[in-house]
Amino acid sequence: MSDADSSPSAADSAMGTDSDHRSVDDPILEIERVVKRFGGITAVDDASFGIERGSITGLIGPNGAGKSTTFNCITGVYEPDEGSVVFDGTDITGRTPNRVATAGLVRTFQIAREFPEMTVLENMMLAPKNQLGESLWRSVAPRTRGAVIEEEKRLRERAWEVLEFFEIDHLAGEYAGTLSGGQRKLLELARALLTEPELLLLDEPMAGVNPSLEKKLLEHIHELQEQGYTFLLVEHDMDVIMNHTEHVIVMHQGSVLAEGAPEAVKSNEEVIEAYLGGEV
Ligand SMILES: Nc1ncnc2c1ncn2[C@@H]1O[C@H](COP(=O)(O)OP(=O)(O)O)[C@@H](O)[C@H]1O
Ligand SMILES: [Mg+2]
Repeated sequence: MSDADSSPSAADSAMGTDSDHRSVDDPILEIERVVKRFGGITAVDDASFGIERGSITGLIGPNGAGKSTTFNCITGVYEPDEGSVVFDGTDITGRTPNRVATAGLVRTFQIAREFPEMTVLENMMLAPKNQLGESLWRSVAPRTRGAVIEEEKRLRERAWEVLEFFEIDHLAGEYAGTLSGGQRKLLELARALLTEPELLLLDEPMAGVNPSLEKKLLEHIHELQEQGYTFLLVEHDMDVIMNHTEHVIVMHQGSVLAEGAPEAVKSNEEVIEAYLGGEV
């Protein structure tokens, strides 16, 4: 926070800030000095950044930079060894994924996690983690039985609404295992949206998606942004990052190497070097 505390990489970054990370006007998410170790490997090493509410922000970096682990620390899949995660002004560090999702923060995975032997609609119905119906005693107790049925009905309506939004409602009765890679990504996003989150973390949403579906997926993301959703996107496709994000955070060896506007980051010497070093 102090002026004395200026790491050389942060000072030279595209933003040229003199604090730990750039200041964000209206942050929906702030991670502060997060560290995550696996045995001798420090996968996330003192990473700090903020996400502007309502933005589409890109999180990039060479393979092994710590992007997925950062996502996992934010969403409660892993508990950080050090540091804090603040969502919408509330410290959520170490909360379980269900509680993080309930707070309004969800993620999709690099590899889509649908259940192949269930239909698309059945997969959708599994998504919200805090349905009343999940606890058995509630569903058999006469007084709460009505509420459970109401909740299921509401959920089913919402599921159809989201499937229609993504234009995959015609696939509702298909087994998820028969979907194409791109359709799986849409289903994954649809499931994430079902919990009515404020912030969505997408881990490589375009991987394995054909160009026409990719275009559609990006249109949906922009449409959702207009509705007020915020996105943090891990994506390898630089064209996607350059054309569809407002702000880019670059990770390298577990830390934030640079951040700034897409064009500034693209021409940042350190960033170019990090990518060259990692890709040979
Ligand atoms: N569960 C794990 N156990 C041990 N090492 C891990 C685990 N997850 C990630 N790592 C290591 O942490 C580093 C960062 O990985 P990851 O977050 O997946 O990077 P990225 O998503 O940027 O490619 C890599 O060196 C990776 O091998
Ligand atoms: Mg990854």
